[in-house]
Amino acid sequence: MKTEISLESHRIQAKILHAAINLSDGKVSFSELEKMTGYDMTVIKENTKELMESGVGYAGRKYFRIPELPDLILPPVVLTGLKSRFMGRRIFAYKSICSTNDTARRLAESDSPEGTLIIAEKQTRGRGRMGRSWHSPQNKGLYFSLILRPRVTVEKMPALSLVAALSVCRAIETMTDMRPQIKWPNDCLIDGKKAAGILIDISAELGRVSHAILGMGLNINTAKKDFLSELRKTATSLVIQTGKVFSRVDCLRTLLHEFEKSYRNFCRYGFEFMAPEIIKRSSVIGKEISFKLSGKKYTAIALGYDENGGLRVKSKNGVKVLTGGEVTIRK
Ligand code: BTN
Repeated sequence: MKTEISLESHRIQAKILHAAINLSDGKVSFSELEKMTGYDMTVIKENTKELMESGVGYAGRKYFRIPELPDLILPPVVLTGLKSRFMGRRIFAYKSICSTNDTARRLAESDSPEGTLIIAEKQTRGRGRMGRSWHSPQNKGLYFSLILRPRVTVEKMPALSLVAALSVCRAIETMTDMRPQIKWPNDCLIDGKKAAGILIDISAELGRVSHAILGMGLNINTAKKDFLSELRKTATSLVIQTGKVFSRVDCLRTLLHEFEKSYRNFCRYGFEFMAPEIIKRSSVIGKEISFKLSGKKYTAIALGYDENGGLRVKSKNGVKVLTGGEVTIRK
């Protein structure tokens, strides 16, 4: 597990990258870096060397050179230009990991603060909802978890999935001209196909959330052939939809910023404040849907959300609220 020392070096290296990229033309002398960042020569030399060793820029005897930031999920690269205040400011990044949600849970249990980001280039046992797995091919998408400590009761948590899905939609809208939709309870669809999924693991005491792990998987540069054959008809990615390759680091920064704004509003003003924006993007509200409850299949019309993010549906048996599970939109 990484230490506070490496978290501090991420901040130093991000400052160096910021100076090299934004305040010069990509080539900057160590003495200029000293002036720009306020760090002494030893720190500059040590950290530019570390950056070069991790594949970021080139450190010579007197200069650091980096024409542009590489699209690698490395903490100093992510931190450079990140606009959020606390979401993703403390980063644990891995090349390969079983599941970011599992590592995040261990960190949350040892008191890691809210907003801590756990991210991997690849997951070997990525988890989805309802016992499914989340296919996480290397360097293609974003697979990450955030540690959250919302002061709410457990019943409010379905709403947080919708709030997170809203931030995924907004991030995609910022980066493309597409209009993604939210499929209750936690999916983000483009053209009716799944582009992102959200998995929240909750730890609670006496009905109140003590911490929540919000896991997100977003398919970005995943080509059709990168998906498992059984997913090819139902899954999509930004590259499939637009034909363009995206910077995953840019997507991550945008997503962290959008999620921080939505999460703050959710904590401050509650789900009702966010609901109109979520309803606007819903792929299920007003539609005929089917779902299973205790093994029995129902069809109903999706009416809207209740104050906790549950789905209000009307079937021939009357109106009820779904608090979890899955719905299918009937054609
Ligand atoms: C779903 O749609 O079923 C939820 C998918 C959630 C996948 C993400 S990827 C990062 C995080 N770590 C995991 O093991 N799962 C979530």
